[in-house]
Amino acid sequence: LINEKVDSLIKIMTLKEKIGQMNQYNGFWDVTGPVPNGGDAEEKYDHLKNGLVGSMLSVRGTKAVRAVQKIAVEESRLGIPLIIGFDVIHGYKTLSPIPLAEAASWDLEAIKKSAQVAAAEASAAGINWTFAPMVDISRDPRWGRVMEGAGEDPYLGSKIAVARVEGFQGDDLSDVNTIAACAKHFAAYGFSEAGKEYNTVDIGHSTLHNAVLPPFKAAVDANVKTLMNAFNEYDGVPATGNKYLLRDILKDKWNFKGFVISDWASIKELVVWGYAKDNKDAAKMAALAGSDMDMESHIYIYELEQLVKDGVIEETIIDDAVRRILTVKFELGLFDDPYRYCDEAREKEVVNNPKHLDAVLDMAKKSIVLLKNENHLLPLQKKGQNIALIGALANEKNSPLGSWRIASKDSTGVSVLEGMQHYKGNNLIYKKGADVSVGDTKFVNEIKINTTDRSEFKDAINAAKNADVVVMVLGEHGFQSGEARSRTDIDLPGVQQELLEEVYKVNKNIVLVLNNGRPLTINWADKHIPAIVEAWQLGTQAGHAIAQVLYGDYNPSGKLPMTFPKNVGQIPIYYNHKNTGRPVRDESNPNLVFWSHYSDVDNTPLYSFGHGLSYTSFEYKNLTLNKKVLNIDEDVKISVDVTNTGKITGKEVVQLYIRDLVASTTRPIKELKGFELIELQSDETKTIHFVLNKTELGFYNNQGDFIIEPGEFEIFIGGSSNTNLNTRFELK
Ligand code: IFM
Repeated sequence: LINEKVDSLIKIMTLKEKIGQMNQYNGFWDVTGPVPNGGDAEEKYDHLKNGLVGSMLSVRGTKAVRAVQKIAVEESRLGIPLIIGFDVIHGYKTLSPIPLAEAASWDLEAIKKSAQVAAAEASAAGINWTFAPMVDISRDPRWGRVMEGAGEDPYLGSKIAVARVEGFQGDDLSDVNTIAACAKHFAAYGFSEAGKEYNTVDIGHSTLHNAVLPPFKAAVDANVKTLMNAFNEYDGVPATGNKYLLRDILKDKWNFKGFVISDWASIKELVVWGYAKDNKDAAKMAALAGSDMDMESHIYIYELEQLVKDGVIEETIIDDAVRRILTVKFELGLFDDPYRYCDEAREKEVVNNPKHLDAVLDMAKKSIVLLKNENHLLPLQKKGQNIALIGALANEKNSPLGSWRIASKDSTGVSVLEGMQHYKGNNLIYKKGADVSVGDTKFVNEIKINTTDRSEFKDAINAAKNADVVVMVLGEHGFQSGEARSRTDIDLPGVQQELLEEVYKVNKNIVLVLNNGRPLTINWADKHIPAIVEAWQLGTQAGHAIAQVLYGDYNPSGKLPMTFPKNVGQIPIYYNHKNTGRPVRDESNPNLVFWSHYSDVDNTPLYSFGHGLSYTSFEYKNLTLNKKVLNIDEDVKISVDVTNTGKITGKEVVQLYIRDLVASTTRPIKELKGFELIELQSDETKTIHFVLNKTELGFYNNQGDFIIEPGEFEIFIGGSSNTNLNTRFELK
């Protein structure tokens, strides 16, 4: 039915109106003020009135959205409603942890719920389309945007992509509490060379098909309505103009029916890349490649019409793009009621609803990863201790909100200090010790991380001297990761490392709580500090979540979605690497240097992918298979017994990895292919079952075809990628 409606609408649209649907503008005037008079804004306003704008982004709030929608619907000839896009990345006003942190939960239900809460708040504020989830796989923590994704692994990344798409979109896009999702950035943005933002990407087909594309494919199979292309080039062709990615793979091979939006001005940037000679050429390249909507390049609206008239672009290309865009608008119910997301009473009730605080607190606790806990230093005793809390981030209400939270108010997060103050039985002293950065850390300004101010060291050291235990909250400010936040040095910023070492000299009983949007190089801390808690940027309820973990009211179960390197030189370091031809030292000639290694640091990471401890402990036993030799189309059934060998109830992510020992293209030494989050009481044992078939055992060849090959496979099961419990089977 929607198809028919779309077709009849397209029939009555002029070419110009069709191209208008492919045009998206950022909010360009204060809609509550006077209409724009003069300049660029007046021209855009005219476009809006004349049905030459299909979408606006970053207009938010029912009042503002109603105002722009009214112009599109009531003043343009055909009254086609706008689709309103916004970066709802980890919440709208009530914020969940940053996406990388959520990924550390490995809890798909919780992640879906978090996206549902975000969709509920955003849709109540007039928004019906989010530019999320970012499903870019990345192996490079120098790249600031790793905070926005699900880490390094395509299997985990695919599961999380689906959970997020389902959370945002629900089962029914016309439900007013759901919004269209956008899998981004298509493709390979996470592989920007040297982790430098907006850089060239130079990866081969094997990595493209097996590491980069699977989460996008999973999102498409989960019916994601839109995709955004990327700022990078792939194989010499910028993603925005990349026909191989957009048309051959996405639209033809995967049969994607939704629409593709460019990234901000990325069509115009085809010229800057040296791929198009001028704007007209850029419009042609992008449209032919399959970019359906122009975000803020202002190029389609000026160039496409002539290109069609000149016969350079067939009108069917335009029709196809418009059909995709209109279909999503129909599915959202915008043609039934363009103001359905503009109910002020609902906005008041839903946005910042206190119930959402419970949901984001739950998500925040699940996202915390216990990296180290020597001598059971954690959890802290609840009564009778002197605790020194040190670090500027401990008293931060802004930083825990993370990056990408345009709608939320500054400083509305719960700080660690506030969270810990809820526990009354101890004597808690707070000292800042050192700043994280200099100056203001607003999103639009360059972050100056090299503060050298040590004037408050002394107070912190004195507090530490007299404490039974010291909690140090160190790491990055929320705005030190995110878009355009690449770093070449991922140590603790500023003088925080120095502060940590000075405090350690007077008190070794330190719990280090990390706040960060990416893996950091904390080699020294790992060697010396007895307890380390990875607490990311956990959103609105951050401080409560951290305090509950520190005091043992919540037993942590998070697992790292990204490898922590020992130093920057190891990057890219990731668990699912290839074997190389010379993986180990030649034992018969141990002095020979000709094997794949560095001479100054070993090959192992600081913390492996999948690593994370609990206040209890788990033992894995009895790894069994249904058969050791199977036909290629048979299911491999695997079971393992997991026992909680500690004293308290805890959750564990049971992880299954495979290795395809010989294949027509080399395969990684381990690949995650299954996981289950379980809860066990003390002494309890559960048998966990996994089934593998060609979906898990196959891989993509260099033509992008999914294949499965006979041969021997090894499987590994455990609580991290660094597990040795293994067995083998053969596919005939
Ligand atoms: O959604 C973002 C994208 O990830 C980066 N460029 C701007 C877009 C819209 O804000």
